[in-house]
Amino acid sequence: MSDTFGRGVQSRIYLDGVSGRRPRVPTDARRLEEAARRKLSARAWAYVAGSSGTERTARANREAFERRRIVPRMLRDVAERDLTVELFGRRHPAPLLTAPIGVLDLAHPDADLGVAQAASALGIPFIASNQASVPLEDTAEAVGGSPHWFQLYWSSSDELVASLVGRAERAGAEAIVVTLDTHSLGWRPRDLDLAYLPFAEGRGIAQYTSDPVFQRLVAERASRPAQPSTQRITPAAVATLVSLARNHPGPFAGNLRSLTPRVAVQTFLDVFSRPSLTWEDLAFLRGLTALPIVLKGIQHPDDARRAVDAGIDGVLVSNHGGRQVDGAVAALDMLPPWSRRSAPTCRCCSTAASARAPMCSSRSPWAPVPSRSAARACTAWRWRAPLGWRRCCGT
Ligand SMILES: Cc1cc2nc3c(=O)[nH]c(=O)nc-3n(C[C@H](O)[C@H](O)[C@H](O)COP(=O)(O)O)c2cc1C
Repeated sequence: MSDTFGRGVQSRIYLDGVSGRRPRVPTDARRLEEAARRKLSARAWAYVAGSSGTERTARANREAFERRRIVPRMLRDVAERDLTVELFGRRHPAPLLTAPIGVLDLAHPDADLGVAQAASALGIPFIASNQASVPLEDTAEAVGGSPHWFQLYWSSSDELVASLVGRAERAGAEAIVVTLDTHSLGWRPRDLDLAYLPFAEGRGIAQYTSDPVFQRLVAERASRPAQPSTQRITPAAVATLVSLARNHPGPFAGNLRSLTPRVAVQTFLDVFSRPSLTWEDLAFLRGLTALPIVLKGIQHPDDARRAVDAGIDGVLVSNHGGRQVDGAVAALDMLPPWSRRSAPTCRCCSTAASARAPMCSSRSPWAPVPSRSAARACTAWRWRAPLGWRRCCGT
């Protein structure tokens, strides 16, 4: 880890500087973002960087981080810095996970495989998106022995849900993350103004096209009499057909002649997500798998409590980076109310998850962390303990 992380990377850069080499990738996040904008196509940039409506939620997320300031403490012996955390029975080198990101091939041809390998090199868990550009079995192989999780969009076909979860289990995923905030796609003006949805050209649907249940749904749809097409034949329509053929599994020439790539996209649009999902449906998923289940998109403490009651193992406090509800509260700002509600005891550790959760202090919400090991332990429970972790972590 040390060579690929923090001080190790810094030392390597300075050492390279001695022989006149500078880093190819900007180390300042703002310059990195600008470099990405220059590199990506207008459509790819719109999809990656855009969020919903007036993008207030995305701004709120950043501002919430801007408002926080760190008060450094001194003389604490930091010669050995230990960032390790334990999550679901596995120790990780740092309290970080890669967020599930769909359609990664918009950003780089290596797509999910590149991110999976990078996560594996750092030893941090890779979360394969349900909208990935490559099947989850391939990313599972790319991470080698490193941990990986699977993010699920709950489809309108429960059979497809069961199939995806089964595949994730067989591929060695260590947790299932269910994203709840995208039962319908947010109103994203940057994409809308370009009339661009990557899925429409067959991108980001590899988990579906590689799935036997989905393939059967496609075959069933294809066997029904086709609606007459209202699409005009324009250069853009032809380009879309070419993209469809390129992005669909199998030989390009065959795909170009076949209706299947197009029917696959239509089938995907039919089944993508189930807006009628309720808390009661979680029992179905709980019955499908013994893997830890993490709900992504939870923001209200009451929802976190319900998750715990439903036997859920963890939550990811998130608003999808502002890509769904414009005007939503910043995810970071929702953490303090959780901790206040959980006072006076540190329930993140003692109640929320399981007996494996360590006990922390029962001090007031903003009290200093009692000890380094307790702080570490609480950080470890950050994802699975919906109640009051923040206080324990002293952040
Ligand atoms: C281009 C892009 C694609 C994304 N695709 C997915 C996805 O497929 N599944 C998912 O659950 N979240 C997806 N997200 C949301 C991220 O996982 C994450 O929630 C977001 O970047 C904000 O980070 P946060 O949740 O840590 O606040 C995507 C975000 C971006 C920017």
